[in-house]
Amino acid sequence: MHVHLRQGAMMALATAQIEAGGTDTVLVMPNLSPPITSVAQAVAYHAALQRLAPAVTFLMSLYLHPTVTPAVIAEARASGVVHGVKLYPAGVTTNSAAGVLDVAAYHAVFAAMQEHDLVLNLHGEMPSTAAGAITVLNAEAAFLPQLRALHAAFPRLRIVLEHVSTRQGLDAVRRCGPTVAGTITAHHLWATIEDWCGDVFAYCKPVPKTAEDRAALVRAVVAGGGNFFFGSDSAPHPIQAKRGGADGRGATAAGAFTQPYGPALVVQAVAEGVRNGWFAADDVRLEAVDGFLGRFGRSFYKLPESEGRIRLERKGERIVDSLKSGDGAVEVVPFRRGEEVMSVHWVARRDGRTEDVTVAES
Ligand code: NCD
Ligand code: ZN
Repeated sequence: MHVHLRQGAMMALATAQIEAGGTDTVLVMPNLSPPITSVAQAVAYHAALQRLAPAVTFLMSLYLHPTVTPAVIAEARASGVVHGVKLYPAGVTTNSAAGVLDVAAYHAVFAAMQEHDLVLNLHGEMPSTAAGAITVLNAEAAFLPQLRALHAAFPRLRIVLEHVSTRQGLDAVRRCGPTVAGTITAHHLWATIEDWCGDVFAYCKPVPKTAEDRAALVRAVVAGGGNFFFGSDSAPHPIQAKRGGADGRGATAAGAFTQPYGPALVVQAVAEGVRNGWFAADDVRLEAVDGFLGRFGRSFYKLPESEGRIRLERKGERIVDSLKSGDGAVEVVPFRRGEEVMSVHWVARRDGRTEDVTVAES
């Protein structure tokens, strides 16, 4: 329930990995260039994605921007394809330059979203400032008062704190009512500061934090409370952009690419949590992990349960070193390249067909 599928050759590459990775429904992020700020753009993007993967359900989102007015919210609801509106504080991540400077300026839009029952998706980080003593390490914690204020002002508005990366973020979601949920990525279940400070392919926003934060995120999956569900934030970047060469400035692009392996990485992170002594094997319930990967998110977005079922098997598969577009022009390196990963088998498709074929054995 939070993926970046991009445009052009990268879109074709990333979209082909949705079902291969064991997923049949995705909430698509709108931070393209230019960003998706109109319903017409969202509808056109939806059609392009649907052509690439006809069996996948694509839930679209709009990029919160001054042109997204209450009238646009009504139009978005009527479109049937737009399910959420993404708030990016200006400057915090990839393609967020056109993002929000002043949340208060959007109160009429939030009221319309509450009325039309659209979801508000929050990138919950404050921009780094020396004067405010904000860095990437406390940017999420510093944002949380805004989550609480929005929930208090719009208690019926469904809000998702995206890619929760801290214990404070988990607690803030838990203290809100049932209209507020959090997504957790696969990479935040694996990574800490150690990983991204030495590896551009693990660098993403919000940055993975401490070992305690990582353990708390895995525990939230195992707790299975229904208020946290999977949003992979799979965010592919061309290998040159990750290596700092795309614009010659030497800065790396934020984003970890996990689309081919999301459910497998989550299940393996839970197993790793048992090995690390964060909880006992007996504490892990299939309903909790299965709910995290599918049911809880579908229920929050008011979607019917999927008929689709996957089986994950240890067969010695390893995460590929990189994936290339058909013409070889675009290359992307996945998170945890080279590591062992469970293989995905679709045992039932969403339309009820039963099969036993391996989709991805790369
Ligand atoms: C995302 C991207 O690359 O579009 N990057 C990231 O590090 N997560 C944007 C985002 O979701 O913040
Ligand atoms: Zn994202």
